[in-house]
Amino acid sequence: MGLPIPTLHFLLQILLVSLLHTPTFAEIKSYVVYLGSHSHDSEELSSVDFNRVTDSHYEFLGSFLGSSKTAKESIFYSYTRHINGFAATLEEEVAAEIAKHPKVLSVFENNGRKLHTTHSWGFMGLEDSYGVIPSSSIWNKARFGDGIIIANLDTGVWPESKSFSDEGFGPIPSKWRGICDKGRDPSFHCNRKLIGARYFNKGYASRLTVPLNSSFETPRDNEGHGSHTLSTAGGNMVPGVSVFGQGYGTAKGGSPKARVASYKVCWPPINGDECFDADILAAFDAAIHDGVDVLSVSLGGSASNLFNDSVAIGSFHAAKKGIVVVCSAGNSGPNDATASNLAPWYITVGASTMDREFPSYVVLGNNLTFKGESLSAARLADKFYPIIKATDAKLASATNEDAVLCQNGTLDPKKVKGKIVLCLRGINARVDKGEQALLAGAVGMVLANDKTTGNEIIADPHVLPASHINFSDGVEVFHYVNSSKSPVAYITHPTTKLHTKPAPFMAAFSSKGPNTIIPEILKPDITAPGVSVIAAYTEAEGPTNQEFDNRRIQFNSVSGTSMSCPHISGIVGLLRSLYPSWTPAAIKSAIMTTATTLDNKAEPIMNATKSQATPFSYGAGHVQPNSAMDPGLVYDITTNDYFNFLCALGYNETQMSLFSKGPYKCHKNFSILNLNYPSITVPNLSGSVTVTRTLKNVGAPGTYIVHVQSPSGITISVKPNILEFKKVGEEKRFEVKLKVKKGKATKSYVFGKMIWSDGKHYVKSPLVVKAV
Ligand SMILES: *[C@@H]1O[C@H](CO)[C@@H](O)[C@H](O)[C@H]1NC(C)=O
Ligand SMILES: *[C@@H]1O[C@H](CO)[C@@H](O)[C@H](O)[C@H]1NC(C)=O
Ligand SMILES: *[C@@H]1O[C@H](CO)[C@@H](O)[C@H](O)[C@H]1NC(C)=O
Ligand SMILES: *[C@@H]1O[C@H](CO)[C@@H](O)[C@H](O)[C@H]1NC(C)=O
Ligand SMILES: *[C@@H]1O[C@H](CO)[C@@H](O)[C@H](O)[C@H]1NC(C)=O
Ligand SMILES: *[C@@H]1O[C@H](CO)[C@@H](O)[C@H](O)[C@H]1NC(C)=O
Ligand SMILES: *[C@@H]1O[C@H](CO)[C@@H](O)[C@H](O)[C@H]1NC(C)=O
Ligand SMILES: *[C@@H]1O[C@H](CO)[C@@H](O)[C@H](O)[C@H]1NC(C)=O
Ligand SMILES: *[C@@H]1O[C@H](CO)[C@@H](O)[C@H](O)[C@H]1NC(C)=O
Ligand SMILES: *[C@@H]1O[C@H](CO)[C@@H](O)[C@H](O)[C@H]1NC(C)=O
Repeated sequence: MGLPIPTLHFLLQILLVSLLHTPTFAEIKSYVVYLGSHSHDSEELSSVDFNRVTDSHYEFLGSFLGSSKTAKESIFYSYTRHINGFAATLEEEVAAEIAKHPKVLSVFENNGRKLHTTHSWGFMGLEDSYGVIPSSSIWNKARFGDGIIIANLDTGVWPESKSFSDEGFGPIPSKWRGICDKGRDPSFHCNRKLIGARYFNKGYASRLTVPLNSSFETPRDNEGHGSHTLSTAGGNMVPGVSVFGQGYGTAKGGSPKARVASYKVCWPPINGDECFDADILAAFDAAIHDGVDVLSVSLGGSASNLFNDSVAIGSFHAAKKGIVVVCSAGNSGPNDATASNLAPWYITVGASTMDREFPSYVVLGNNLTFKGESLSAARLADKFYPIIKATDAKLASATNEDAVLCQNGTLDPKKVKGKIVLCLRGINARVDKGEQALLAGAVGMVLANDKTTGNEIIADPHVLPASHINFSDGVEVFHYVNSSKSPVAYITHPTTKLHTKPAPFMAAFSSKGPNTIIPEILKPDITAPGVSVIAAYTEAEGPTNQEFDNRRIQFNSVSGTSMSCPHISGIVGLLRSLYPSWTPAAIKSAIMTTATTLDNKAEPIMNATKSQATPFSYGAGHVQPNSAMDPGLVYDITTNDYFNFLCALGYNETQMSLFSKGPYKCHKNFSILNLNYPSITVPNLSGSVTVTRTLKNVGAPGTYIVHVQSPSGITISVKPNILEFKKVGEEKRFEVKLKVKKGKATKSYVFGKMIWSDGKHYVKSPLVVKAV
């Protein structure tokens, strides 16, 4: 979910429906049965062959249920192309029985996941502040992503958006094998830009007893999230865009000349979950078949074992086919160990700010002034208004804890009318607080951060004049209201300010490492702009997605790792266009090793409370697209390396053979630490350990020398410390020895850096170590 965009009314609709038709949830649950890879090469198969695969699924399940006919009724997806498996409604005991079969990798419940704008490209150096694109920009070099197909798994797409107009586009690339499945929505259309759309709702439907009506038979985006993310990755350049007059400029995707496709897997939330595993797998299987180059996946769930995780499974099959998958890290920060999407074969993206603000000042009666941010359209008359704390304006029935947050049903219209209400951030959506204030008759809202969100202030399209201020300023405003007899305030209309410093800094909401599933793999991998991002939106709902919001806008400002993820997807599109033969791992390495850990004041990137951020927030750092096109060296990974990695994780040869045509032999001595990842993480160093990596030359011949910034209390030695590359494609192996300094180890995570340089390229890897 984009952060400020609550789908509360969707939730309410579902709850209402469930009140009328009890029970909503069936006794029998829906499951995914995962069988690994197919032995066929899907390109050579016809639909007859696919039907045969489906029959084999019926037969397999039939052997547990007694008949293929019963199996046929229970299976609602048969994954036939790349992913081998099916989704079915089953009794728990049967599911447990199936899980024991040697041909089965995993059986897991069809669980739900959550969805996790365009100055940002200038901030990353693709254009200058006048919108002039220098010849050295990756945009020019990569022809704006021409020929590339970028797709997302999301809430669908608003096809009427100018971001998806096909003006100036030639014929659809011949490699495209997808379709435009309009369902029962005659108004939906694809074109030469938006070349495909599909929707998957059977996994969602299996969680309800009420049948889905025709409004679910469409790839149309009635929420906004999917259109926003797809246009950020591959939307056209659309001039003259603003959000209520602010952020005026040209909206653009990272690969603006790419073709795009939409796979709708997310629907109105059921108990907060919007996108279900069975649908996600069906979408991956279709997208791999359809011929996409890049898949952008701004959704995730709680971390789970890899083969119980539809995103991990789907993207593994995608990566095997050379498709680069990009995922969001989640919006559960700033606590440690909150990141989702933790497998090594996709790029996991954190979120940070860019150098643009939408200042809206809060002026108090004592003339103290605080700079907040907002994208409110409404203006206050030019005078002071009484300001009241939400807790002083509460209904007798409401608790202080609910009232301070301006939750639904807490504000007393008699006390609020004509005043500015002071609300605290947290729990309910920021834009919902504004709506509650307006419904109670307030003229304005001051929204103050709590301590944990610190300096992270977000410009939202509030329904009333409002300003979001940081924690320390919030304390001052509370203090003024507490200590004044008749406190008054004024909120200025927002403006747009560019080139603000410091930028970037990490968003407080951005989920963090360490990796809770595979601690040896650092997550997130990278950070990109995800705060107040302007991109295309749905016109089915207002910009706050509140039922009450009757405004309709074509472009909206949204925040979340959902928004940073498609920035990387757009950049991947450019790199894929430049380097068609590179593996997904090589492209990821280029993005990671060329990232920066400095902000625009040339100081270390900070977190939202002004402490130095660490690789647990930003991975390798902030993306630098122009550098990524010339990384010099890359850390490459083959599919076989991933198999060895899975063996090292504890999957056995019987299980691995389900991915290959014959028996599989695990590399007995493979250590997870030695997966050729562009970062090095040793989560339990006792004494010393030696880690190996291999670098591949993708630039000119050259001599690279290593430079190490050792983590505190750890000695690092690299052998050899000079690598000479004579030709392109040449690979060189080296060893990194990490040793605990006697009596110096802190037993908490410490961070350093390893840099290989030929004087022109700087191939940087984060080092993350915890001594035991
Ligand atoms: C995978 O999901 C199944 C079914 O929900 C569950 O029984 C099993 O414990 C899960 N496995 C792991 C490793 O989490
Ligand atoms: C379909 O169902 C949803 C929620 O269940 C409801 O809000 C909507 O009005 C229905 N649409 C039609 C066309 O019946
Ligand atoms: C606030 O500033 C205005 C204009 O500068 C001035 O007229 C007014 O007296 C000041 N009020 C206080 C309380 O300082
Ligand atoms: C909060 O914002 C104000 C600007 O209004 C700034 O001066 C102050 O430094 C910020 N607080 C912190 C803790 O950074
Ligand atoms: C507030 O909650 C009530 C039910 O408790 C609901 O009917 C109403 O729609 C909600 N209002 C808003 C604006 O969320
Ligand atoms: C304002 O008053 C409330 C009690 O009404 C108190 O909890 C809070 O700490 C005070 N805040 C400041 C900044 O004085
Ligand atoms: C920033 O980092 C400090 C020091 O690690 C930590 O205490 C604080 O919680 C962090 N704040 C945020 C918002 O991440
Ligand atoms: C492989 O692992 C599966 C699942 O844990 C187990 O059922 C099977 O017996 C194992 N096979 C071998 C050969 O160890
Ligand atoms: C296996 O790894 C260990 C330690 O990393 C090493 O000492 C040993 O020589 C390796 N054995 C083989 C057969 O590669
Ligand atoms: C470190 O942890 C990994 C799993 O995370 C384990 O396989 C390995 O044996 C541990 N090593 C030590 C020295 O504890």
